[in-house]
Amino acid sequence: CRPPGRPRLSQVRLSSTGAAAQRAPGGEEADSKVGTRKKTFPEVQAERLEQAQRTVLINCPAKISEKKFLKYLSHHGKINSHYFYESYGTYAVVEFSEKDSIASLQDVTRTPGVEEECAVPFKSRLFTLTLKNPSTQAADQAPVHCHKQSTILVSDLVQKLCSADSVSNQLYTLMDEYQLTEENTKLRFLVCSLIQEIACAYFPECTVKPFGSSVNTFGKLGCDLDMFLDLDEIGRSPTRAKTGPFYMEYQMKRVPSQRIASQRILSVIGDCIDNFGPGCVGVQKILNARCPLVRFSHQPTGFQCDLTTNNRVAMRSSELLYIYGSLDSRVRALVFSVRCWARVHGITSTIPGPWITNFSLTMMALFFLQKRTPPIIPTLDQLKDLADAEDKHVVEGHDCTFASNLNKIKPTENTETLDVLLSDFFEYFGNFAFKKNSINIRKGKEQNKPEPSPLYIQNPFEQALNISKNVNQSQLDRFVALARECAWILQQEDKDNSSLSNSQPWGLAALLLPSVASNCVKGKKRKRVQASERIKSLLDSLKINNANSLVNNGGK
Ligand code: GTP
Ligand code: MG
Repeated sequence: CRPPGRPRLSQVRLSSTGAAAQRAPGGEEADSKVGTRKKTFPEVQAERLEQAQRTVLINCPAKISEKKFLKYLSHHGKINSHYFYESYGTYAVVEFSEKDSIASLQDVTRTPGVEEECAVPFKSRLFTLTLKNPSTQAADQAPVHCHKQSTILVSDLVQKLCSADSVSNQLYTLMDEYQLTEENTKLRFLVCSLIQEIACAYFPECTVKPFGSSVNTFGKLGCDLDMFLDLDEIGRSPTRAKTGPFYMEYQMKRVPSQRIASQRILSVIGDCIDNFGPGCVGVQKILNARCPLVRFSHQPTGFQCDLTTNNRVAMRSSELLYIYGSLDSRVRALVFSVRCWARVHGITSTIPGPWITNFSLTMMALFFLQKRTPPIIPTLDQLKDLADAEDKHVVEGHDCTFASNLNKIKPTENTETLDVLLSDFFEYFGNFAFKKNSINIRKGKEQNKPEPSPLYIQNPFEQALNISKNVNQSQLDRFVALARECAWILQQEDKDNSSLSNSQPWGLAALLLPSVASNCVKGKKRKRVQASERIKSLLDSLKINNANSLVNNGGK
């Protein structure tokens, strides 16, 4: 699904009407527009959630006649699209054009036999298809074509990057390799919709929506699936009886706080997922976290899932990032590369701890792009100024208002290449006054740190909070040392163009080599050795001076 030729930056700038000409994040370009207008985040979400409800997931034999498979399923209705992928077996994702087709398919589907283990009779849209006569039916079949669901190895990526013709194109190559595919995005919405069916047993009007990197345009193949159990629509009374002398209200259980309500809801939904959710394994209820959650693995897709509720601010953060990622193709390319670089060097980790998170790194990259002259993306306050009445969002007293309509945002005049931006990103953060200043994407300006955390990135919506409070000094120091080393490598290459022609990894590829981190440590040691040598020679010269003065003073 690569577009014919990557648009050059000048084209990107000129061809856009607010949103840069680029593939829609996690979707096809045609899919992301309503006429000439770019779809908003809620529109994309609603469309994909509806699509997911017409979709089924089928575990099937790897060797199967695709034609016969589709013919068999099409007895239940028209099929809009389908694809296969591999994960603990072969799976088919089949999207029907009507929701009724699913009921028709479920009508002819049997429950498993009870020979060995007893099955919990929960009927979902996850099926197993077997051959009646495996020996004859599979004998002359080639395995079906499977779509990739994971990224290539870093070593293969480095090789690929070396054959690009500029650092800019290296960044775009990395993004093409790493970003979520259309199929993977569909699968993420499908898993949300399968979990929604479980939660619906308790709350029939609930929805489960993806947030975070699955939908914010910065998702990498293999990233976790953050899910939001949305119960707010239930509270919205559609029609209040305007006539008559009475009000009618539901009697509901009352609890002392919203947090306790979230914990109780997630606790029962977690149990349901654990006991009845087909394919859901390793369910953990992490209810005492700042944001209570249920974590589990969805085995048929391989997704690591985090289910939260009452997390509307995170949903707004996802939309804000979606807007930034859709404005200019350089934003995503830079963020993908910086995230990959950080992961390779262990600056970020999949385990929680004192390291910088992907979310914090993304904020840093956005802040850097706001600081360019002219800025590449607007500040959050500028997006708020463009908001109209329906964009107004206040969540638990926090102002989360900004314009949703991408077409309202004027394209940037900035034409800098990613070669320059990548190098300057490292230089900028290699020399940032972290001790004194905080990063604030609402204002697009450094501000004095309100408290002494080593890294202070103001939460754009809950403004009294620091999103990188977890980061300790030594992790920040590692980031700074690596950023300096990388800025130095890129600047040296710039001076010495010959590196482009030799066989050594160059540009972004050179920054991903493990030797960068070890050079950093060596550089530190080198500096330490140099410093101790300087002190030694200073002491030596003092001794000599002292001795001389003693001699000059005649030993008095
Ligand atoms: P991945 O590392 O690819 O999963 O990136 P991600 O953006 O999905 O991050 P993560 O799964 O850690 O968090 C999901 C979402 O929760 C983020 O996109 C944010 O919207 C929100 N979030 C994560 N960390 C923080 C934080 O420290 N503070 C706040 N306010 N929100 C956060
Ligand atoms: Mg995530």
